[in-house]
Amino acid sequence: MLFNKKKELDKNNIPKHIAIIMDGNGRWAEKRGLSRSMGHREGSRTLKKIVEECYRLGVRYLTVYAFSTENWSRPKEEVDELMKLLLEYLRNAERELAGKNVRIRVIGDKKRLPEEIVKEIERVEKSTENIEGLDFIIALNYGGRQEIVEAVSRLVEDVKAGLVSRIDEGTISERLYTKGIPDPDLLIRTSGEMRLSNFLIWQSSYTEFYFCDVLWPDFSAANLRDAIISYQGRQRRFGGVKC
Ligand code: IPE
Ligand code: IPE
Ligand code: MG
Repeated sequence: MLFNKKKELDKNNIPKHIAIIMDGNGRWAEKRGLSRSMGHREGSRTLKKIVEECYRLGVRYLTVYAFSTENWSRPKEEVDELMKLLLEYLRNAERELAGKNVRIRVIGDKKRLPEEIVKEIERVEKSTENIEGLDFIIALNYGGRQEIVEAVSRLVEDVKAGLVSRIDEGTISERLYTKGIPDPDLLIRTSGEMRLSNFLIWQSSYTEFYFCDVLWPDFSAANLRDAIISYQGRQRRFGGVKC
């Protein structure tokens, strides 16, 4: 009898950089008759598990989309609750990740964030800055277009100041929030939506996409492995030909 043997994870071909659009918290809660905030709370638990799993698997960079520049358009109570959760997350981060070599960084426009969150970001970034293991990058008040606009504005200033004479991809990349971070190899979006929603639009030009129907609070280590196995079965060509 023929049966499909489930593919196994190849430990020697783990994507160096995984990006995740953690979507579906609201629907997860609504399905249970709970408030959307409860979904975000559950989603934050999932995040802890997934960070640990990425660390265990030897992923070098993990970037997660926590709050977009467009998410301010949500009802104030939901935005406030999300900010509260993010603050809690940052406060507890080192304790939660104790014993794991995880460096935490935040990318996005900090200007619109509440002051106490900005302070907490600075604290946690500083306290983990020398850690080499997993770079865990939280995109907070992040928008890909906003990031490019900021980078170009800075570039214009640098050109005016005579610091730059030639503009190429590198001169833009160096001015993005993700400066020094390699582009994502694999981008996962949960909840069945198949769009980027303004996430890493410059950086994902050759990223492999993986969409799954699971709502973020239900996303498990096994789901992460499935995504990586799918990635491992892809052929990345970068515009070249199959060889
Ligand atoms: C993702 O879940 C979390 C954030 C955007 C902050 P959603 O809140 O978008 O959940 P759905 O898409 O409404 O189910
Ligand atoms: C993207 O999800 C933002 C985050 C996961 C933080 P959204 O739920 O905001 O995206 P849309 O509105 O469905 O495109
Ligand atoms: Mg959503």
